Amino acid sequence: MPVTVVVGTQWGDEGKAKIIDLLAGTHSHVVRYQGGHNAGHTVVVGAERYALQLVPSGVLYSHVTPVIGNGVVVDLPTLFAEIDTLEQRGVSCAGLRVSTLAHLIFPWHQRHDAISEALRGESKLGTTLKGIGPAYADKVKRIGVRAGEVRDRERFLTMVKERATQENAVFASLGEPLLDVDDIVKRYDEYAERLTPHLCDSVNMLHDALAKGGAILLEGAQATFLDIDHGTYPYVTSSNPTAGGACAGSGFGPRDITRVVGIAKAYTTRVGAGPFPTELHGDLADRVVDIGREFGTVTGRRRRPGWLDVVMLRHAVRVNSLTDIALTKLDVLDDFDTVRVCTGYRLNGKPLDGFPDDAEVLARVECVYHDVPGWKRELRGCRSESDLPRQVLTLLSLVEQHTGVPVSVVGVGPERDDVVVRGGAK
Ligand code: GDP
Ligand code: IMO
Ligand code: MG
Repeated sequence: MPVTVVVGTQWGDEGKAKIIDLLAGTHSHVVRYQGGHNAGHTVVVGAERYALQLVPSGVLYSHVTPVIGNGVVVDLPTLFAEIDTLEQRGVSCAGLRVSTLAHLIFPWHQRHDAISEALRGESKLGTTLKGIGPAYADKVKRIGVRAGEVRDRERFLTMVKERATQENAVFASLGEPLLDVDDIVKRYDEYAERLTPHLCDSVNMLHDALAKGGAILLEGAQATFLDIDHGTYPYVTSSNPTAGGACAGSGFGPRDITRVVGIAKAYTTRVGAGPFPTELHGDLADRVVDIGREFGTVTGRRRRPGWLDVVMLRHAVRVNSLTDIALTKLDVLDDFDTVRVCTGYRLNGKPLDGFPDDAEVLARVECVYHDVPGWKRELRGCRSESDLPRQVLTLLSLVEQHTGVPVSVVGVGPERDDVVVRGGAK
């Protein structure tokens, strides 16, 4: 039975959640495998808009078991607030499972995130300030606290107290205000109580489910070019959103994976700092942001817009071994006279081979564009390939030709049904 990975191919916010929601219809488990509440995943069902940060996007279906995998860093107050909001709206989260191996985020991680950003002065990364980088740093330093520790409450609270006290020594040396250790211990005692019924040995549970005929969907947050190894370092997040991270962050081996769907917007956006070859400015940029509603779900920040870049997509195909691409938000470009696609980079007038391994170089490349005439028609009602205008088919062929993989799904609006599924893909 299948294990499908959904991965972002740009700098995030490609519409992963909408495609996960679409695919979840035929899956038994939806598993977040990395990142934390830096993610903002929006699913629109009729008049309802759900903004998710930690809870997997499959939660809206009663047949799906949503799982927070071992590779995620979990902020418990955010998780419980999200569960409360969903339950108030009639979405049950009782079946939500949290891996015992997932690391927890604590208040000191958020403080460290803010301190490091402040220390960077003009060269801030523009993180979400959610403590993601410091939490992963503690995991790698082997001083993190995992969700499963709450099974021995006394030991868990001793660990929390020790870590908070150690961090206070660091804050004191930096002249920063101190954390209220007793208050943190008290709050985490309550969180531990609430977390307990959701805890699970996710790795064995998922393998057992697969063996019994289940279909597993691994939900990526962030994206290929925010990957700590493959992204535009240091302007990246602190985990591996790429497909290899889906294995490490869920406990499946590479041979278990049967499909890897890369999600790409029909244009590109980026939140936070870092190089962006096809970035747009001025009126065109404002049009993309206004029509595409390109404001962050988590921080409300305006996303930086640019044209579609198939040099990036080609690289995303390589590092994720993508089987197919879902191209979202084509409808946002309905009124454009011309839709530009970057098909190559030049440096100092000479063509570059592939995606450069240096963010400084990426910041200096010139883009070679292929212009596709606009379709000047509303795409939202399109439901099958034959509904799509010829110019859209040209754009899809261009993407397929440059990436070597099929475009299996086309997004034509924000709602669950606003898609064209091509060539028999599910
Ligand atoms: P994610 O982080 O990759 O899950 O993406 P976000 O949810 O942060 O941002 C994508 C936004 O685009 C959300 O507001 C979606 O509702 C919306 N969206 C997704 N697909 C489409 C589409 O095909 N057309 C339009 N107009 N909006 C879409
Ligand atoms: P989804 O899953 C877009 C960006 C931040 C910043 C960098 C590092 O919704 O696509 P971090 O807080 O992770 O240390 O910030 O990564 N970033 C995202 N950008 N979408 C996201 O998630 C992001 N998660 C992190 O803006 O540039
Ligand atoms: Mg998002």
